[in-house]
Order: sequence, then structure tokens, then C-alpha cells
Amino acid sequence: MTDPLTTELLDIALEAARRAGDLLRDGRPADLGVAATKTSPIDVVTEMDLAAEKLITDFLAARRPDDGVLGEEGASTEGSSGVRWVIDPIDGTVNYLYGLPAWAVSIAAERDGETVVGVVTAPMRRETYHAVLGGGAYLVAEGQERGERVRCRPAPVLDQALVGTGFGYRTERRIGQAEVVRALVPKVRDIRRGGSAAIDLCDVACGRLNGYYERGLNPWDYAAGALIAREAGALTGGRPGIPASGELTIAAPPGLFEPLQGLLEDLGAWHD
Ligand code: IPD
Repeated sequence: MTDPLTTELLDIALEAARRAGDLLRDGRPADLGVAATKTSPIDVVTEMDLAAEKLITDFLAARRPDDGVLGEEGASTEGSSGVRWVIDPIDGTVNYLYGLPAWAVSIAAERDGETVVGVVTAPMRRETYHAVLGGGAYLVAEGQERGERVRCRPAPVLDQALVGTGFGYRTERRIGQAEVVRALVPKVRDIRRGGSAAIDLCDVACGRLNGYYERGLNPWDYAAGALIAREAGALTGGRPGIPASGELTIAAPPGLFEPLQGLLEDLGAWHD
């Protein structure tokens, strides 16, 4: 049974994510992808990113002024309550820029360093995923009151697995990531690069992907999605014996997690 504070944090995260998702969906200029100069579309996205992060942090500060915050766009406060919010106002920024639907608002709440709440809302998919620690993972379709519980797809053998991944922004890292993909692609059913780590992790949770891995994520990319994947039955981690981190984040159900982790270890997937 979820305690009252965690329930409160979930309700706050759901409402903040809904408001930010509405702002981003309704406020996205229709001609974003064809703006006149090379930099202006990026600037508009940055403005939307900043506006969504401000909306979320203002909302959180009004309700829980003593909490800490870590946000992709620079929000960073220590807080004194033992609760910290980890926020990505737009995960899947390049998709947002191009008008592709796979972008999300990701909000996690930590208590004393442990993630206890995760909310990922994907406005163009009209879906919100949420989880609390120990309480299962749920998918709420837009317009529905109640969510349905989601669970990972049972593990296939590795060579039948559909595996998601992503690439960082630095060229050096991307070259290393491409080499890992080159070695991995003949060993699995196929690979997907969806463009939003938060959605990829939710796709593991609901069985649209068998597994997911990526090197170089930031906490705001994976905090909420990793909890949702775990609560749907996935294992998450990095290199053997190391939790999911920026070094390497892997999510897959038991039976697939181990061979995928072993293969990524053989391929040195955490090296640049
Ligand atoms: C990015 C997305 C992408 C992943 C990148 C992330 P952003 O986050 O999650 O799927 O491959 O590593 O940086 O920049 O869109 O918030």
C-alpha cells in the first residue's frame, strides 16, 4: 500500500506533466520545422523547453516549496524535505522540432535518493505512464479516468528481441555507439531508435519493445521511465553489478536482461 506522501507526489507529478504536455502540444508553432534561419527552430524549441520547465518548477514550488529540483534546462535547488524532483520538460527534443510524435514530459520524484514516483506523458500519443515504487506501472489513455496496468512482454531469446537504443549528441560518442549497433544488429531481431529515452523505457514497460539500452543518458532522461519499466517487471541496470546510470542504462525483462547485458559488456558498450 502506497503511503500518503508518495500518493501526494504522484498526484502532483501527474498534474504538472499534464499541464506541461498541454502547453507543449498546444503551443508548438505549426511551422517550426520550416522556420527561416538555421538556428531559429532550435531557439523556439529551447524557448518551449524553458517555458515547460518553468511551468513545472513553479507548480512544484507552489505545492512543495521545500523540495529539491533537478531539471534538464538548468533548474537546480537542494531542498530540505528529502524529496527531489528530476524533470525533463521535453525528452525527444529533436522529434519535437521535426513534428514527430515521440516526445514526452518526464517527471520523477526521489525520496532520500530513491526514485519513488515516475510519470511520463507523451501528448502526441495521448498516453501517460506512471508508477510508484512497489505499486506497479500504469498506462492512462487520454480521456480515461483510470489507467490499465502494464507489464513487460515475456523475454524472447536474444536473437528474437526488438531492442531500442539511442545516441548522444557528441560526435565521438556517436561513433562508438554506431559501432556497438553494427555488432548488435545481426544478433537481435531488430533495433529501433525512437528518439525519446523516456518513451523507449515505457515501451519496454508495455511490451512494444523487448529491451532498451543507451550509453550517456542523464538522470532526467531515465529516472521516471526506469521506475516505470521496473514496476512493469523489467530489470534495469548498467554494467554487471552497477545500477542504471549515465554510463549505461539497460532495461529488459529477466531472461533477456542478462544476455543483453553480457553482449553489451562484450562489445564494450560503455566506452566512448
Ligand atoms: C535525448 C533523448 C534521446 C536519447 C538522447 C537524449 P533530449 O534527450 O532521450 O532519445 O537518445 O541520448 O539526450 O535531449 O531530447 O531531452
